[in-house]
Amino acid sequence: MALTLWIFLAFKVLGASSEVRQFFLKQASGQDCQTLQLGESWISESPITCLIESMSNYSENCQAVVYNSQTGNCRPGSVAFGPIEKVTTSIPETGSSDKLYYVRQPIPPCNTSNNFALYDVCGTSACLYLSTSKANNYSDARTLCSQMNSTLFVGTTMAKFSLFWYTTKIYMKDNTFIGLQDIDVEGNFVWENGEPLSFEQYQYFWHFGQPDNYGKNQDCAVAQHAKTPNEFGFDDGYCFKFKKKYVCERCEQC
Ligand SMILES: *[C@@H]1O[C@H](CO)[C@@H](O)[C@H](O)[C@H]1NC(C)=O
Ligand SMILES: *[C@@H]1O[C@H](CO)[C@@H](O)[C@H](O)[C@H]1NC(C)=O
Ligand SMILES: *[C@@H]1O[C@H](CO)[C@@H](O)[C@H](O)[C@H]1NC(C)=O
Ligand SMILES: *[C@@H]1O[C@H](CO)[C@@H](O)[C@H](O)[C@H]1NC(C)=O
Repeated sequence: MALTLWIFLAFKVLGASSEVRQFFLKQASGQDCQTLQLGESWISESPITCLIESMSNYSENCQAVVYNSQTGNCRPGSVAFGPIEKVTTSIPETGSSDKLYYVRQPIPPCNTSNNFALYDVCGTSACLYLSTSKANNYSDARTLCSQMNSTLFVGTTMAKFSLFWYTTKIYMKDNTFIGLQDIDVEGNFVWENGEPLSFEQYQYFWHFGQPDNYGKNQDCAVAQHAKTPNEFGFDDGYCFKFKKKYVCERCEQC
């Protein structure tokens, strides 16, 4: 578990915006959260000065820093996410004594009717329903979400994709649909909001050897937490055939 050390900060962002922004900074290790390094490091006095300097150097793109209190080394990072295999440029490296400090992202509104709730991974939150029963197929899962004024989960950013993976791994422990499929055009994976799976995400998203369209019939992305527990990455699974759990998201911006 991440250390529950929260530092509350409010300061003026230097430069473009004079708005006072509020941040929650949370400390974590490389086993809990990672980030992508935005540029060269420098020496700074504390995690807080490290963050302020990073925000000044990198403006809106800097949502995390990695700071070493022994050496004062300050590394600017982008948004924090849970540990993802294949992300070779991520920091802090597993086993290092560097600590990640991330900025909590804006918390979206969450109408909790139908058992929706907010879930958080490394400072990114979403309003989710984690199904307790299994849908017969992808199209039924889509309908079930829609009947609750929501959609199947859309994970178009690294942080949101990671939020889905770790939430389903920890709380569901079962094979689970995410809102991504290539039913219409084989090989063209499309999120439920119509966006294609980006090339960058394609590299991180899949389990080794996937997607393989096994039997020319696998068109739905599935987190196989029951079939292959403790293995990272999505499988292109059957949209029908085996019943699966699903995650719905209520999101005004999705
Ligand atoms: C960022 O800011 C720090 C301290 O303010 C400075 O030492 C460093 O060189 C800057 N780095 C870049 C890449 O701008
Ligand atoms: C939440 O959703 C329910 C069902 O759609 C609705 O009846 C209720 O008014 C909503 N609550 C808020 C605060 O919007
Ligand atoms: C999904 O399952 C339902 C039964 O729950 C069935 O009526 C429907 O035809 C199936 N859809 C697809 C695309 O297989
Ligand atoms: C969905 O939203 C609409 C309008 O926003 C509302 O009238 C309806 O009651 C909601 N349904 C559910 C199941 O939350």
